[in-house]
Amino acid sequence: MRTVHTVKELRQAVRSARTNGNTIGFVPTMGNLHAGHISLIERARQHCDFVVASVFVNPLQFDDASDLQRYPRTLPDDQAKLEAAQCDLLFAPSVDEMYPNGQPQLSTVHVPAVSEGLCGGSRPGHFDGVATVVTKLFNQVQPDQAFFGQKDWQQVAVIRKMVADLDMPLEIVAVPTARAADGLALSSRNGYLNDSERQRAPVLYQTLQHMAQQLQNNQPLTAVIDSGKQHLQDAGLRLDYLEIKRQHDLKQAGANDRDIIILAAVFLGPARLIDNLPLSLNRAFE
Ligand code: PAF
Repeated sequence: MRTVHTVKELRQAVRSARTNGNTIGFVPTMGNLHAGHISLIERARQHCDFVVASVFVNPLQFDDASDLQRYPRTLPDDQAKLEAAQCDLLFAPSVDEMYPNGQPQLSTVHVPAVSEGLCGGSRPGHFDGVATVVTKLFNQVQPDQAFFGQKDWQQVAVIRKMVADLDMPLEIVAVPTARAADGLALSSRNGYLNDSERQRAPVLYQTLQHMAQQLQNNQPLTAVIDSGKQHLQDAGLRLDYLEIKRQHDLKQAGANDRDIIILAAVFLGPARLIDNLPLSLNRAFE
């Protein structure tokens, strides 16, 4: 695997792969790679001939300067994992390479509706930062397909809408959430947890599973949310949000919606953890 740090080198490498008749798969990341990222690379390998990954901790999408500062940067380790997963090309630009004219005057991309509420409500500007950097990365790499984890369901919805609204010529592939054996969704932020917090963390997914069961049993939506919140609080997790939405547009779920999703964000010690559970109800609820 080759690593390049400039847009010029990236374009040259992708152009030569394309000239040789290869399709291009792309996995954008912020590094500190875990098995969830590697499952994206593996999926890209199955679908495409030439796989490009990026590692870039994007300052634009952090609403909190200390969160940006402490975000783990582990490039040599990431390179070894990508190499082992048979990634072909790694793009690891500096902040100056990505934003050569600085950030204050930058043209940005705003995706309305799906970016509002949930993580967009708790982290103002976050999805503008994501949409902007992903647009730049798509323009730089020009992939046929790009691969994202379903753990960030709202992020995938934002990117899908952006690609559709702006006629971006690529396909977005969403890959199921990779989990630890105890159910905790894999995330770079799990590394912030101490041993006792790590032991408590699986209660997040357990709560979502329990709520899904209650919904399948046709229990009222509001009661399911209330008991889910209570469960998380009792376990010592501080709630950011716990909501039930429609899968396709993330609008409030209603009585006739069957393809719904439970989404949650909690604070546990120094970490903010998110997770979700999509489900299809056998019959309408409420
Ligand atoms: O999901 C992430 O790691 C980031 O939001 C992304 C898509 C790489 C954009 O910086």
